[in-house]
Amino acid sequence: MPNATTTGLILAAGKGTRMKSDLPKCLHRVCGVPMVKLVADNMIAAGVDEVIIVVGHGGESLISELGDSYKYAWQHEQLGTGHAVQCALAELGDVEGTVVIACGDTPLISTEYFKQFLDAHSGVCTLSVAHLADASGYGRVVVEGDKATRIVEQKDASADEKQIRHANAGMYCVDGAALREALKTLKSDNAQGEYYLTDIVSYFSESGRAVTAFVSDDPAILLGVNDRVQLAEANAILRKQINERHMRAGVTIVDPSSTYIGPDVKIGQDSIIEPNTYLEGSTRIGKGSRIGPNCKFTDIEVGDDCYIFLSHGYEAKIGNGCRIGPFANVRPKTVLEDGVRLGNFVEVNRSHLHEGVKVNHLTYIGDSEIGEETNIGAGTITCNFDGYKKSRTMIGKNVFVGSNSTLVAPVTIGDGALTAAGSVITDEIPAGGAGFGRARQVTKDGWAERRRQQHENKSE
Ligand code: UD1
Ligand code: MG
Repeated sequence: MPNATTTGLILAAGKGTRMKSDLPKCLHRVCGVPMVKLVADNMIAAGVDEVIIVVGHGGESLISELGDSYKYAWQHEQLGTGHAVQCALAELGDVEGTVVIACGDTPLISTEYFKQFLDAHSGVCTLSVAHLADASGYGRVVVEGDKATRIVEQKDASADEKQIRHANAGMYCVDGAALREALKTLKSDNAQGEYYLTDIVSYFSESGRAVTAFVSDDPAILLGVNDRVQLAEANAILRKQINERHMRAGVTIVDPSSTYIGPDVKIGQDSIIEPNTYLEGSTRIGKGSRIGPNCKFTDIEVGDDCYIFLSHGYEAKIGNGCRIGPFANVRPKTVLEDGVRLGNFVEVNRSHLHEGVKVNHLTYIGDSEIGEETNIGAGTITCNFDGYKKSRTMIGKNVFVGSNSTLVAPVTIGDGALTAAGSVITDEIPAGGAGFGRARQVTKDGWAERRRQQHENKSE
């Protein structure tokens, strides 16, 4: 990697006509992450000082999706990849040092590949080339020895040129001043009537400045996504790479073909991921946990030795040794301390459940704090919303909440207290107390029998 400043430019202004989509092409997701974000983050991880994304078609939605971690430059009219770089440089002013350019639709370029490419850069320009069995669709690179002399686009290529198997991966490392000079020479006299960035290669070559061809032996990494078939291909390749990385690090993935793990997810050793499981965003799974089958977790932290199956969770924290499922829903701002159990059809939202709390069946817990070792009976509902505002339910330690209790917030239940089954609890229950909030039962001897007799007499 050169010592001088390295600026990353990612081209993402195109409409992506071949995607046939209202969503800008570069926002389509690969393993849960917009393609252009994968490219940008890998560039940054490889040591690029600053990343500028060129936006145009759908630019507002792209900027609002990706946020302010990157800089943006506008290309209001999409007149080609060369024009996109012209627009970026016009907005940025003088770019010092090296500029590394990549397309926002090549999501498989890894951090490692970016590093190798930057290290390989010498002279004014280095071009990344993939040697493919079939280079159809890509710009073909005329390679002489270890130099690239010219690129011809698919639509401009002669029958002979179409036989070339060196494909342009759309990645360039260029000296900033030389790039500025080359861009001034671009013309749009080609099949697409566009200003092609690819033409900088013949410009340098013809003016006596050799362009280094950095030829890859791993063609999959350079896959350009232009349609939904290639999108699925990119997903499959990255997913396989991610799954294999975890398996090599000591995670069992029972069925990799039905396991979907995002690039930033971390999983501890000896955890087991069962089929049909999705782990997304910044999800962290500790050691020795068993997750799945059929789990979907986004931005969630799970501790060690948990067993979670057939359940959903997002933006929450789950401690060690928790057992969750089947059919639990752990919603945002929820903290489950060690040893918590959530059973079937239990939803927990914005609540803190301390160590050893058990909520085993058919329950909604919202805006609540529940103390250690408390047991919540089947069918309990915290009524946290009165139609206008949300209120909290505070439950102490070692409380026994009877089945089918309705806890109307704001309400407090002290340590060691209980609620009788079927109660509607509206008032505070002090520590050690009991809350009965239900009608007293009336029992009538023989009543059912008399009713049956009457019914039978009538029908005779
Ligand atoms: C481009 C290359 C081709 C290469 C392939 C690699 C050119 C002329 N062709 O072709 O040699 O093999 O990538 O995947 O460079 N973009 C803009 N503004 C524009 C046009 C495009 O920002 O005016 C962006 C697109 O959003 C996209 C990238 O540039 O992310 C590449 O454009 P695309 O239309 O996909 O070019 P390809 O036909 O794939
Ligand atoms: Mg493309």
